[in-house]
Amino acid sequence: MIHKNEPFGIPKETIAGDTAPLNRRSIRSYSLRQGRLTSAQSKALETLWPEFGLDLSQPFNALDAFGREAPVVAEIGFGNGDALAQMASSAPDRNFLGIEVHRPGIGHLLLQLKAHNLNNVRIYWADATEVLAQNVADSSLAGICLFFPDPWPKKRHHKRRLVNPDFIELVARKLKSGGFFHAATDWEDYAQSMLNILQHCPELENKSKENAYAPRPSYRPLTKFESRGQRLGHGVWDLIFNRR
Ligand SMILES: C[S@@+](CC[C@H](N)C(=O)[O-])C[C@H]1O[C@@H](n2cnc3c(N)ncnc32)[C@H](O)[C@@H]1O
Repeated sequence: MIHKNEPFGIPKETIAGDTAPLNRRSIRSYSLRQGRLTSAQSKALETLWPEFGLDLSQPFNALDAFGREAPVVAEIGFGNGDALAQMASSAPDRNFLGIEVHRPGIGHLLLQLKAHNLNNVRIYWADATEVLAQNVADSSLAGICLFFPDPWPKKRHHKRRLVNPDFIELVARKLKSGGFFHAATDWEDYAQSMLNILQHCPELENKSKENAYAPRPSYRPLTKFESRGQRLGHGVWDLIFNRR
């Protein structure tokens, strides 16, 4: 049944993000911009969400979600989903869990999943911190990717940066032993801050021998934000840590 006040007929408890009330965390790592939804994205949200969308009110169960056992890699803040779709296409033996709050990006990814017949991606439309804390079991993920998180460059906004010691403690707890956390950013001071926080997390070990930044691994596609950063002459820093 389609409920009038529920976007796309999706029951409210299954989604959060930019339609959700601001009642759970006072400091958000994203701005609640609506963005323009194309008619194709709008239709995709209506028709494809039941196939790829996950219900926030249920614990995440990989076998139920994907219908098979395979390592699960999460991407937090996938934006328009280009990198996620490319990773899913290049690694059909893995399951991918995308978590995003931006509705047009989710619509865009849904269209790509259908166009490329990708069945190894499922999506939470919600704040990743809440999904990890409430839906995902400890020691369950093979990897967590965080590519080009919002940099919040102004000092007074640094508290909104997703990567902080509490978030990294949460990330480490959700990884299996040997699982990876991979972040990339084109903001040098955010990279330095991430490196410092990650180096101080006792559960994590830097994959880089110099205990510094890692070269970009071939599995990480170039994203829209990275290409833009390159045009502006920014550097890019990859950080890859493993759960001990
Ligand atoms: C700068 S964009 C980068 C998008 C994409 N990863 C890329 O490289 O093109 C950051 C994205 O993270 C999302 N985001 C920020 N905080 C989030 C959170 N707590 N949970 C889920 N998504 C989040 C934003 O909505 C935005 O789409």
